[in-house]
Amino acid sequence: MLKLRIPAATANLGCGYDTFGMALGYYNYLEFAEAEQYDLRIIGEGEGHLPRNNANLVVRAAAAAYELAGRSMPPLALTAHNNIPLSRGMGSSSSAIVAGIMAANTLMGDPLDRPALLELAAKLEGHPDNVAPAIYGGFTITAHEGGRLYCKKLTLPPQLRVLLAIPSFTVATKKARAILPRQVALTDAVFNISHAAYMAAALAEGDIRGFGAMLFDRLHQPYRYQLVRGAQDVADAAVAAGAIGCVLSGSGPTMAAFSEDDEPLNAGIAAAMSEAFARNGVSCRMMILNTDNRGAALMEQEEE
Ligand code: HSE
Repeated sequence: MLKLRIPAATANLGCGYDTFGMALGYYNYLEFAEAEQYDLRIIGEGEGHLPRNNANLVVRAAAAAYELAGRSMPPLALTAHNNIPLSRGMGSSSSAIVAGIMAANTLMGDPLDRPALLELAAKLEGHPDNVAPAIYGGFTITAHEGGRLYCKKLTLPPQLRVLLAIPSFTVATKKARAILPRQVALTDAVFNISHAAYMAAALAEGDIRGFGAMLFDRLHQPYRYQLVRGAQDVADAAVAAGAIGCVLSGSGPTMAAFSEDDEPLNAGIAAAMSEAFARNGVSCRMMILNTDNRGAALMEQEEE
């Protein structure tokens, strides 16, 4: 059996709707091999309710990679060790897609390069901002132009920490996309363009404070906060407790605050976020994570 490790991701980062993604140091694993007959096991998140037939996202993604390479898919034995919570805005579906296409590509002898894997994963997911960090790691910037998907990766400073307040309820990405307006004001578009451009430039310089100063948005969060009771209170509480900024993670409901490597400070921020959700009647689980600069990778025996 071969084993892949795929990072969780937080997308949008406020101003970079459908554009920015960041890989997190928290992982799903997929063991895989060609087999006599098809066998899919799911351990952890989704165990008992995710489909185990060819409707499963890992299997559908693997089949799409075989098809793109012009090969027929053999029976596969797959064991998914799922740690990333489902439908919380932490990139669980991207992780499944990236797992499937990278496992298939490995078994085929790597006929597809990373840009081709990214194009395929983004097509399957419907937007590129979670699959890009899952594949490349780091902070990713994606843009569709001329029928092509462009992607730049910035390496994240090692001292950056991401504090996630993960509510016990879920929000379907489809629903969180459906509530967004079809048209936006020019002033809001300019607000987001300027913040996003500055944020990327700050990160390229390793300027964490400059990155944090841009963690705002006018294109999706104002609408999506209706789906996450207490979201604004959590963001305010995180910043009051010393976070450099706090945004909705992907399409929510998780809230992501950012900080540096300072354990007592981060414990205080985490407590403030959790208490703010509790005041709004929402129970949540907290995670304090490093970022990931490697992206999806085959595990060497000694890393397992
Ligand atoms: N950019 C996507 C959205 C991410 O906000 O809908 C989904 O996790």
